[in-house]
Amino acid sequence: MTGSDAGEGHWRKVYRETGADAVSWYEAEPSASLEALARAGVSGARSFVDVGGGASRLVDQLLDRGWSDLTVVDIASEALAVSQQRLGERAHGVNWLAVDISAWTPSRSFQIWHDRAVFHFMTEPEQRAGYKTALRLGTREGSLAIFATFALTGPERCSGLPVRRYDARALAAEFSDHFELLDSWQDDHVTPSGRVQPFLWSVLKRSA
Ligand SMILES: C[S@@+](CC[C@H](N)C(=O)[O-])C[C@H]1O[C@@H](n2cnc3c(N)ncnc32)[C@H](O)[C@@H]1O
Repeated sequence: MTGSDAGEGHWRKVYRETGADAVSWYEAEPSASLEALARAGVSGARSFVDVGGGASRLVDQLLDRGWSDLTVVDIASEALAVSQQRLGERAHGVNWLAVDISAWTPSRSFQIWHDRAVFHFMTEPEQRAGYKTALRLGTREGSLAIFATFALTGPERCSGLPVRRYDARALAAEFSDHFELLDSWQDDHVTPSGRVQPFLWSVLKRSA
C-alpha cells in the first residue's frame, strides 16, 4: 500500500463502510486514555487536543469532567461527524478539525496532546517530520504528550496499513529534541472481534 492509499480516502472509507463501532480500535470506554491522564498526574481540566481522535468517546468523558478547551483533529470527516452526532448540542463545545496531522500547522498550543494509535501509522520519514512540526507548534514548555502506539509485540498492520511498532526507548528518541519521557507502560487492547493488541503507552513532557 502506498502513502496516497493510506491517506484521507482510506480512512473516510473505513468509517463509512466498517462503522465507528466495529473498527478494531473501538472502545466503549476510553479507559486506557483516562488512566494515562491519571498516571500523568492530570486531575483537572486542561487545554487538550486529541490527534487522530476519530470517533473516540474520550472527548465525551472529558466534557463530563468539566473540560472546556477541547479540540479533536482527524483526517476523516466521517469520524468527526459520528462524534458530533453522538454528542448533539454538546458538540458545539468542541473544536473539530478535519486535517492531515502530518501537514497541520496549529495556530495555538495545548497543555495536553493525546494520540492513541495514530503516530504509528507514520511509516515515512516525511510524515514523521510533518507530525513533529505539528507537535512542536501545538505544544509549549510544560505541555504533556501522551502516545499509544503498538508495542514491539503488537500487530504489524492495522486497518490494512503497515505500522511502526515502538518500545519506550525508540518512542522517546523520536521526540527527544523537545520532549523527555516521564513514564511508559504496556496495556492490551481487545478489539471488537476479541483479538488482543499490545500497546505501548508513553507520557512525555515538553522541555523547551
Ligand atoms: C487507529 S484509529 C484511532 C482513533 C482514535 N484515536 C481512537 O483511539 O479511537 C487512527 C485514527 O487516525 C486517523 N488518521 C490517520 N492518519 C491521519 C493523519 N495523517 N492525520 C489525522 N488523522 C489521521 C484516522 O482517521 C483514525 O481515526
